[in-house]
Amino acid sequence: LAEVRQKTGMVKPSSLLKPVALTRIPGRYLAHQESLPKLPVPPLKQTCDRYLAALEPIVDSEMLKNTQELVKEFQAQGGVGDRLQKGLEHRSRKTDNWLSDWWLQTAYLDYRLPVVVHSSPGVVLPRLEFSDRQGQIRYAAKLIAGVLDFKSMIDNETLPIEYLGGKMLCMNQYYQVLCSCRIPGIKSDSVVNYALNKRPPSHITVVHNYQFFVLDVYNSDGTTLTVDQLYIQLEKIWNSSLQTNKEPIGILTSNHRNSWGKAYANLIKDKTNKESVRAIQKSIFTVCLDAPMPRVSDEMYRTRAAVQMLHGGGSRWNSGNRWFDKTLQFIIGEDGTCGVIYEHAPAEGPPIVALIDHVVEYTKKSEMVRTPMVPLPMPKKLRFNITPEIKRDIEEAKQNMNIMVHDLDMKVIVFSHFGKNVPKSYKMSPDAFIQVALQLAYYRTYKRCCATYESASLRMFKLGRTDTIRSATSDSANFVKTMDDPVKQVALLEKAVKAHRAYTDMAIRGQAIDRHLLGLKLQAIEDLSALPDIFMDTSFAVANHYNLSTSQVPAKTDCVMCFGPVVPDGYGVCYNPMEEHINFAVSAFNSCADTNAARMVQALEDALVDMKTLLDQTPKAKL
Ligand SMILES: *[C@@H]1O[C@H](CO)[C@@H](O)[C@H](O)[C@H]1NC(C)=O
Ligand SMILES: *[C@@H]1O[C@H](CO)[C@@H](O)[C@H](O)[C@H]1NC(C)=O
Ligand SMILES: *[C@@H]1O[C@H](CO)[C@@H](O)[C@H](O)[C@H]1NC(C)=O
Repeated sequence: LAEVRQKTGMVKPSSLLKPVALTRIPGRYLAHQESLPKLPVPPLKQTCDRYLAALEPIVDSEMLKNTQELVKEFQAQGGVGDRLQKGLEHRSRKTDNWLSDWWLQTAYLDYRLPVVVHSSPGVVLPRLEFSDRQGQIRYAAKLIAGVLDFKSMIDNETLPIEYLGGKMLCMNQYYQVLCSCRIPGIKSDSVVNYALNKRPPSHITVVHNYQFFVLDVYNSDGTTLTVDQLYIQLEKIWNSSLQTNKEPIGILTSNHRNSWGKAYANLIKDKTNKESVRAIQKSIFTVCLDAPMPRVSDEMYRTRAAVQMLHGGGSRWNSGNRWFDKTLQFIIGEDGTCGVIYEHAPAEGPPIVALIDHVVEYTKKSEMVRTPMVPLPMPKKLRFNITPEIKRDIEEAKQNMNIMVHDLDMKVIVFSHFGKNVPKSYKMSPDAFIQVALQLAYYRTYKRCCATYESASLRMFKLGRTDTIRSATSDSANFVKTMDDPVKQVALLEKAVKAHRAYTDMAIRGQAIDRHLLGLKLQAIEDLSALPDIFMDTSFAVANHYNLSTSQVPAKTDCVMCFGPVVPDGYGVCYNPMEEHINFAVSAFNSCADTNAARMVQALEDALVDMKTLLDQTPKAKL
């Protein structure tokens, strides 16, 4: 997501996010939401024209010619396109957001690949200084207190509103990430949010050595447990889960969604199991106290931590120490590893990272203050009755998990030559600069351009999620193909960066093409007996096969988000541009012979350095 947080103006570096008011005003959040504009339905002709322009760098001329014909027919007066467009406009009038329900359903709940690697992003936090149980538990206690501090702003509706380019943003996602969970189904999943229950949840779940516990985090008077109370409770949990031979029940959640949906129906037939599962689903969030992972060099540390966040390292390690359906899971290893994995259906990266930034600051500030010790009850351990059938499902999930673990090719690096400072000194958007570097890296590696996805925030609109910035543009293609002519090249670089910036602006204003095309397609599925030709076209398939799936997720914390590729032969690229360095997480699959995360990282570093050199060689007056 492009540049949301820098422009908020409300979030000062290295300070806790402060509530906007001290008192609770019920309805404040709703009043804000009501004031937001609705997501527009872009004009049909505009989307058709922009679609053809987006195809130019990624399909050959014959395919393009064919598609031009199909598009012409589609948008003809009184044609199919017109009819679908009217349907969308009608839908837009009668809903808060014509896209959001459809998007949740098609992008997430109907998606059947495992959420692990294929959907849920991870976040790697800076390594912590402890390497023992005490350090792990102390940090976990502070972290829990930090999340609860953030939660109080959500509960009180005092969370500061974020801005992008002077416009207020939709804050809905913040209200969806706590107390929520994905629930598997046989053909489609659902996501449940318990925050609005009459009696909202007052517990978190803690998992250690594959054993789940309910930890109540509120006293009966509504105050939260203090850090040292949380410490004692966590220590009790730790001490009563020393056995490491338990069935990793949580690994079931990592399976293919249909398989898990079936296993789930079977699992919750048992009353005890059902209650235990419900307790996890309802909890405010989950804390995973992980066993130490194999030691690696400092240089490899972030990469190892990234895979620990994304999948847990396999069935021998921490993959069973999760409930992957849970929206928010904080992971703290005994070896000082710290991070997050979140289930993607309810939210994008930026709200998650804003929450994390707040928590990280909180943990720095909070000291263990001695409070008078009222003895607290032992946190309840969640029991599971494992039938032979459930045992078989666990074994299957373990095997599939281990295949995924072997298949994920991940590389996290700190690009230390420069950060946002360099593009800014040339008055270029740092995100656009990085995206053009990615195009250059890909082109140098494969001698072609590919369909590229960058997520753009639609949060200027009520219940807005994302649209796509198509970073492969004719201008980026012109730049990456002109390697040997430095004079021409710098002008083309500038043009490519500007084109990306312009696309970003268009996307965040709700005028990009991808969600509109998806809407027209889904409208066709609802209204027509057959899909219009433009959606059956090879160009459409190529345009939606994202060999580069990317996201900028800026944070104050020196962290990086990471995720898997979205196609079998592509890359997932996430980055956090800091002032003087850039954190990158690049993923690919080992089963694809053509992709290699380390090689792509190298190409990317070279591209960034070369682009800087190019600019440095050009007198500034000429830019
Ligand atoms: C939230 O509301 C509660 C109860 O009204 C109050 O005690 C607390 O101070 C408030 N906290 C914040 C951060 O506004
Ligand atoms: C947990 O076990 C350790 C080591 O045996 C002990 O020192 C500590 O008091 C125990 N803590 C609790 C809360 O039971
Ligand atoms: C994606 O990349 C793979 C290998 O790098 C290549 O074979 C394939 O043609 C690419 N797909 C598209 C649509 O560009």
